[in-house]
Parts: sequence; C-alpha cells; structure tokens
Amino acid sequence: MSGWNAAVAALANPGGAPGGRLRMVASADVDSLDPARTYYVWSWLLQRTMHRTLMAFGTDPVSPTVVPDLAIGPGEVSDSGLTWTYRIREGVRFENGEEVRAQDVAYAVERVFAQETLAGGPTYLLDLLDHGDYRGPYRGQRCRAVDCPDDHTLRFRLRRPFADFDFLMAQPNTAPVPARFDTRGDYEKAPVCSGPYRIRSYEAGRSLHLVRNPLWNRGDDPLRTALPDEMAVTFGVDVDDLDRRLIAGEFHIDVEGRGIQHAARDAILADPVLRACADNPATGFLQYITVQTAVPPFDDLHARRAVFYAADKAALLEARGGSGVGGSLATSLIPPTLPSHTGSDRYPCGADLRGDLPAARAELAAAGVPDGFETVIATQPGKFELVARALSEAVARVGIKARVEVLDTASYYRSGLGHPDTVRALGLGLGVTDWGADYPTEYGFLAPLVDGRQIKRGGGNFNFSELDDPLVRRLVDEAQALADPSARRGLWQRIEDTVMERAVILPMAHDRTLHYRHPDVTNVYVHPAFGLYDIQAMGLAR
Ligand code: ARG
Repeated sequence: MSGWNAAVAALANPGGAPGGRLRMVASADVDSLDPARTYYVWSWLLQRTMHRTLMAFGTDPVSPTVVPDLAIGPGEVSDSGLTWTYRIREGVRFENGEEVRAQDVAYAVERVFAQETLAGGPTYLLDLLDHGDYRGPYRGQRCRAVDCPDDHTLRFRLRRPFADFDFLMAQPNTAPVPARFDTRGDYEKAPVCSGPYRIRSYEAGRSLHLVRNPLWNRGDDPLRTALPDEMAVTFGVDVDDLDRRLIAGEFHIDVEGRGIQHAARDAILADPVLRACADNPATGFLQYITVQTAVPPFDDLHARRAVFYAADKAALLEARGGSGVGGSLATSLIPPTLPSHTGSDRYPCGADLRGDLPAARAELAAAGVPDGFETVIATQPGKFELVARALSEAVARVGIKARVEVLDTASYYRSGLGHPDTVRALGLGLGVTDWGADYPTEYGFLAPLVDGRQIKRGGGNFNFSELDDPLVRRLVDEAQALADPSARRGLWQRIEDTVMERAVILPMAHDRTLHYRHPDVTNVYVHPAFGLYDIQAMGLAR
C-alpha cells in the first residue's frame, strides 16, 4: 500500500526484508543523544532505536498508546496511588554485555534531578516524585523516591497520585544508564545502548552512524522491528538543499520531520509520482508565537496584546506552508485532538485574518507606547524564519520594529529561546516555536507551557513567557485532582481562557506537516503521538 497519506493512520508498504542501510538527513544536529537531555520528538524517535525504556510509546498507527518495554507490564499502583511498581524483564543486555537491572533505570531517573549538569529533557519527575530536596546523583546521594527491592523490581514514591505515570515512564529519560559509565555532561557523546542499534560513530553537527547491537535480542523486545542493518544520519544540510536531495533519492527520510519547504512542496503536490510518496498528517502540534514577559515592554499586558492584534494570521499560515497542507488556523491553544479543544477566539484579527490594527493601536496607547517600540524575534532557519519575517512585517504596520534573530536549531531550547538568561541577554521579546503534547492529555499539552512551577532557569525551559500566575497554578492542581472527565474539561478550558487573557501565547496554526518518504522504505507509519515517522519500524525494499 503506497500513495498519498498511505502512512497516516496506517502502515505503508508493510513488511520488508532485514538488511540494508537506512539513510536519514536533518538540517541540524539532535538536541542531545543523552536520554536525559532530549526534548526534540525526532530525537526521541531516533533514540528508541538505541535505547530501551521502562515503558514505551506504542506502535499503533491510529491512536497513541503506552506499552511495556523493559517493564513486563504497566506499573502496579498501590498505597492510594502514591506507589508505582514495575517488574523488569530478565536477560536484557547493554551493548557491553552487562545485564540491564532495575538499578540502571533508577539511576537514569536520578540523573534527571541533576538539572544544573543535564538540562534539556522533560522534568515532570522533579515535581512529582516524593524526593525531599534531591539534586541528582553527582552529590553522592540516592533519591529516596526511587528504590529497587531487587535487581528486577523498581518502585517509585509519588507526592500525589498521578494517573498518567506510565506515560512519563515512556519518555527517553527512563532509558537505563549504567552508573559506572556515566560521564555526566559528556555522556551525550557516547551513551551506552540497550536497543537494537549502537553507535559506531557520532560527529556532532555532522553525522551519526548506527550499527546493529549484537546483544539486542528480538525475542525480548515486544516493540522494535529493527529491519535495517545500519542507520546513518547526515546532520546540517540546508533546508532547501535537503529537500532536493531527499526527492532525488539520496536519503530515505528527513528524520527531523519538520516538513518540506515551500519550493519542494509545490513540486511534490504537482507530481502524482512524488505525491504518492508523501504524507500530510495533522501532528497535534501547535505552531505559535511566544511573548516574553521578562523583556520590556512585554511586562505590560497591553504591549503583548498589541502584537496579538497586529499579527497577520493569513501571512503566518502561508509562512507555515499554506492553509491546508501547512495546517489550519489556530485561535486557541488546546489542539483539536484533545477533548477540551474549543476553538474560541479571544483576539479576533479581522474577517480576512490580516489583523485588527485599530485594536492594536489602542493597546499600544494603553501601554504608554502609542508610536510602537523595538524588539527582537527569536527563530530558527527554515519555515520558522519565514514565520518570523511575516510577523515582523505585520507588526511594523503599527510601529513595532521587530528584528529577526535566527538562532541555532539544535540548541534552541537548551540554551537559546529555552534559556531564561538568553532571553534576557538577547532581549528576545518574541519567539517562534511549536509544541506537541508530551503525552496525549491536557496536562501533557499545556502544563509545561504555562505552569510557573515548570519554568526552568537552567535551560530546557518551555514556559518561555515565564508565566507564573497563581490562578493558573491553582486551576492546574484542581484539574489534576478531578476524576470526572467533564468537570476536568471545564477546568482546562478555564485555564486556557486565563492564559489567553494574559496574552503570552499567540496561536497560529494547528499543525500539519508534509513528509516525503523514499519509495524504497517499507513498514512506515506516522507515529500518532508525534506526527513523525517511527524510525524503529522502518525497513527497506530489496
Ligand atoms: N518543538 C520541539 C519539537 O519539535 C519540542 C516539542 C516538545 N516535545 C514534545 N514531545 N512535546 O520536538
């Protein structure tokens, strides 16, 4: 089965013979190869070829699930939801021959607490586990919230019940790390693998070469297909050049999966042969502009709202790839894939979507800057940059001079827009970004962006605007404590309304991405949780 969208909610070209080299390309490096330090979902999907995790994102092409990986079953809950216990499979080995033990997963989880050394990845566990004031293993301490009664049992103590805990255990930072081989900040150069592939060579910013891990055993891995003998990733190819070489057949997929640029988009859509190799899934990502309250004049609500009204949403959508192929207009935050989605519009920007300039000018006057001001928009190369330029042009209409600052893609969240110090140092009043749920609930989607407790001072921050609103915090806690789904929905809608009132996240598009897959790839599907190809499943036609 091939054809347009054949890999969306289905398996395209099922099967495939073992062997061959899967060739992948990306415009920039991974954010990290350290399982504790990655937040790019494409890095997550790449890492699952190298590392087992305690639980894992499932392989159903239709709906996102969580399944056991190193664990032999989902977590067993006891003690009124405060204790989660996992049994670990016996006989799984690291590439160095050592058996993976519960202690190696416990150690991996402990590393997450060493944020001053290992920033970059998800940090839900910092707030959730009952750890006292644990700051990671490098201070010579063990975490009291994680213990291993024996080599194959792992037990977590939580501060409060958290029904989604299995989803957190599927994140890369539960990939086992043998403590003896932990080189801390350098671990990302050569992590020890437990999955079907191990690292033959990694040249930061240039290439990654994976070969089979001979100690991986297909029989004890319920998840991974692992057909190719080798995987190769070329990093750092300019986006348009990348599309050309992809379509010419030099690479099998763009592993970064941020979607085809405009030039190649038109070529693909116009050619039935190319079109048959393309997929255009809704990814569940929100494309948005973030407004930083730490950067004046955006400490003033009215200055922020001026940008909201002055934005030209039609131009922003076009910059993302065009309405339809590039996604659909977003006026609210929670994506249509979640039950609390409303689509309400707090800042209407005209029937033609070109902006409401009188409203923008009124907000500027209310902010005491009637003639506008200067600011900086952070962005990355590619479509993000087109978005930044479109925004800059639109706000110039009311006197806001926004200079576009193109930052490095791989470090964008760890040390660029995602580092509060950088935001201040470069005066990044505005930023182009996107976000998809870490796992498919309202909490997984919205909390990291808007809960003040999730501001990460050391980098890897996604609450860019540094919104720390007591009302939002209280509503998040109330929503998490509610068992009744419809009451919970109502609360999440209130949280969304409150955040929109504060004007810190300017929604632009509910994302769609145009992907291209080489005609030789088999067994390929777009992962429903992330909107990208699930690399571990892919094979090659012989
Ligand atoms: N924008 C980044 C990306 O493209 C980070 C998204 C956060 N990851 C997530 N699972 N929500 O992957």
